[in-house]
Amino acid sequence: MSIKEKAQQRASWLPSGQTPAGARYKTLADQIAAAIASGELKPGDRLPPQRLLADALEVTVGTITRAYKEAERRGLLEAKVGSGTRVRGKHSDEPNFHHLSKATGDSIDLSLSIPIPCALRERQLSAIMARLSEQPSALHNALEYQSEKGNPEQRKQLAAWLSGQNLHIDADELLLSIGGQHADFLVLQSLIRPGEAVASDALTYPGMIACARQLGLKHLPVSMDREGMRPDALERLCERQRVRLLYLMPEHNNPTAAHMSEQRRREIVRIARKYDLLILEDGVQFVSAELRGTPFFELAPERAFYIFSVSKILSGGLRFGCLRAPSALIPQLAAGLRAQFWSSPGIVGAVACEWLASGDADILINWQNQELAARHALLEQVFRGYDFHAHPCGFHAWLHLPEPWRASDFVEQARHRGVTLVSPEPFCVGTQPAPQAVRICITPPTSIESLETGLNRLRDLLAEGPSPTAPLV
Ligand SMILES: Cc1ncc(COP(=O)(O)O)c(C=O)c1O
Repeated sequence: MSIKEKAQQRASWLPSGQTPAGARYKTLADQIAAAIASGELKPGDRLPPQRLLADALEVTVGTITRAYKEAERRGLLEAKVGSGTRVRGKHSDEPNFHHLSKATGDSIDLSLSIPIPCALRERQLSAIMARLSEQPSALHNALEYQSEKGNPEQRKQLAAWLSGQNLHIDADELLLSIGGQHADFLVLQSLIRPGEAVASDALTYPGMIACARQLGLKHLPVSMDREGMRPDALERLCERQRVRLLYLMPEHNNPTAAHMSEQRRREIVRIARKYDLLILEDGVQFVSAELRGTPFFELAPERAFYIFSVSKILSGGLRFGCLRAPSALIPQLAAGLRAQFWSSPGIVGAVACEWLASGDADILINWQNQELAARHALLEQVFRGYDFHAHPCGFHAWLHLPEPWRASDFVEQARHRGVTLVSPEPFCVGTQPAPQAVRICITPPTSIESLETGLNRLRDLLAEGPSPTAPLV
C-alpha cells in the first residue's frame, strides 16, 4: 500500500470530490467550509493531523498549514496546543439570526424570502467582526461622518466585488443605502413628485407598492406574461398617460419568478426612450452572473438605476445595499439621502464590505447556490404535473392553483396543515384582482428534510382539493 493510500485510510476526514494534486490552500479551505456547511464536519470534530492530510492529498505540509490557517481566519476552525485543529463549536453567545422565521412548533414557514439558514454565516460574521476590531484604521473610518454617497473606500470595494459578478459599475456612480428597500424609496422620494405615476408589473414586490403609497404616487399595473412586463401593454399605457418611472425585476420577479429575455429588455428600453421613462431595476433577488441577462444600466445608462443589497446573500438584518444611478441624477439623490439620514452607517458598510472583499461572501453564495439547486430539484419532483414557475437562483416558486382552489382558501388550509404561506394580495398593484396562485419560499426551512415535509403537505392538500364550504343561509 502506498503512503498516500495508508494516509487516506487513517485520516478522520478527507475533502469530498476531487482535490487536484498540488491544490492550493484556498481550495482546501473552501472544501472545509463546504463540509462544515453541509454538516459533514460538525462543531468539535477534529481535523486530520497536518502531515497525514498532506500525505493523503499529496501536497506539502505547508499547504495544509496555510489551509487550516485560512479556515481559522474565516472563523471555521480553532487550533489548540495539544488537541490539534477542531471545527469551531457554537458558543451560546453567538448571534442567531433565525428569529425571523414565523414558524412555530410543527409549523413550517414557506412564506419568507430569506437566505437559507446556515451556521457558517454566523461564524463568518463573528470572524469578520473580530478582524475589524483589530484594524484601528477601519474603526476610525467607521466612526467618521461619511459623505452622502457613503464611504469612498467602501464604494470602491463594493464596485470591485460587483464587477467580479459581471455588474460593471463605477464607484462614482454608486450611493450606499440601508438595504434595497431604502434604495427603492430614495429613488421615488427624490425624483418623483406626489401625484406623478410610476408603473410596474401587475404583480410586484410589496415594498414598492408601499413606497408609492407612502409618497402619494400613482402606481399603475402593467400586464405580464411568463417573461414579465408585456411591452405592448406598457406602450398602450404610455400612449394614454404620462408615466415617470418603470419599476422592474427582470432577472427574477418577486413573486412570479418571471425572467425577461434580452429581446424584451431591448423593447422595454425602446419604449422608455420614446416616452422618456426612468427605469428602476431592482436586483435584490440576486441571480448569479452566468444566469443573468444584460442589466438595464448597460442598455440605457442615461435613465436606468440598479439596486443591489446583501439581504439575499449575507443577511437581511445587515441593512446594506447600494444604488447605481445615472450621473446627472446623483446630486438630487445625494440631497435626498442627506435629508433622510445623512449617509449609510460606516460600521455596517465596514462589515458588509469586508465580508464581500475577503471572499467569505463568495463561499456563502456558492454554498447557497448548491443548496438551492437541491431544493429546486425537490420542488420539481414534488410538484411534477402542476403549473408552477421557478428560477434556479430563486428563493421562491409561483404555483398556479388547479381549479377549484382559491388562493385564500389554500393559504388558510395550508396553515391548518402546519405550513405558513403568504397570500397573493400583497403583491397586487392597485385594484388588480389576486390570481389563484401562491408564492412558495423554499429557503426558510433549516433542512431540506423539513422543506420536503412542508412541500409534501402542500401537494397532498392540492390533490385532496378544498374542503367543502358551509352553505350560506
Ligand atoms: C425585489 C425586492 N426588493 C427589495 C427587497 C428589500 O431588500 P432589503 O432587505 O435589502 O431592504 C426585497 C426583499 O425581499 C425584494 O424582494
